[in-house]
Amino acid sequence: MFITFEGLDFCGKTTQIELLKEHLLKKGGKVEVLREPGGTKISEKIRDLLLDRKNAEMFEETELLLFAASRAQLVREFILPRLKEGFYVLSDRFHDSSVAYQGFGRKLSIDFVAKLQEFAINSAEPDVTFFIDIPIEEVERRKALREHASLDRIEVSERDFYLRVREGYLSLCEKEKRIVKLNGLKNIREIHSEIVSIVEKLERKKNEV
Ligand code: TYD
Repeated sequence: MFITFEGLDFCGKTTQIELLKEHLLKKGGKVEVLREPGGTKISEKIRDLLLDRKNAEMFEETELLLFAASRAQLVREFILPRLKEGFYVLSDRFHDSSVAYQGFGRKLSIDFVAKLQEFAINSAEPDVTFFIDIPIEEVERRKALREHASLDRIEVSERDFYLRVREGYLSLCEKEKRIVKLNGLKNIREIHSEIVSIVEKLERKKNEV
């Protein structure tokens, strides 16, 4: 099963992924966790290019293509083989991030960004995607708790950018049945239980087929 997690920076995805991983391992499952961009030698190199704040001269088009290039490698080298071997693959971000951040956030053509994702991910569409939603005020509050020096090139973006990214996610939620929206202001355990119950329901459905 391929499960992806999406949301604005600081929404708590990483914590939820760790909790789900522990849960699945306890049940005897084989689990791989990965982060986007990254996850393979080539994709990690692309990640460094993308997130380094020194690369301030990067154009939006370059950014979009680099995210897609990193993803294309990750899908073919890592995700598809692991899924074939029966692993649960949990990904911290995937193609929806590009639609939300590069399409809506950077105002590149949404249709083109979506088409490019089809090309990059091949047939590796997630079984389910959890969008952990938090309001912009909460992004700003959590961001303020982090030292400025530890923020990456994209995390230093302005409020308007994040507003557009969130709008992008909300519009994806309406369009895609695969995406489940969760309230990221609830407490960690509550969100975790919702995730587990959805994953279990999906598994039962898959087993019936
Ligand atoms: P990372 O530190 O992995 O993010 P997170 O805060 O989710 O742990 O950095 C990834 C950054 O790249 C994040 O700000 C979102 C952005 N991003 C895009 O703009 N487009 C994409 O396709 C992906 C995967 C990430």
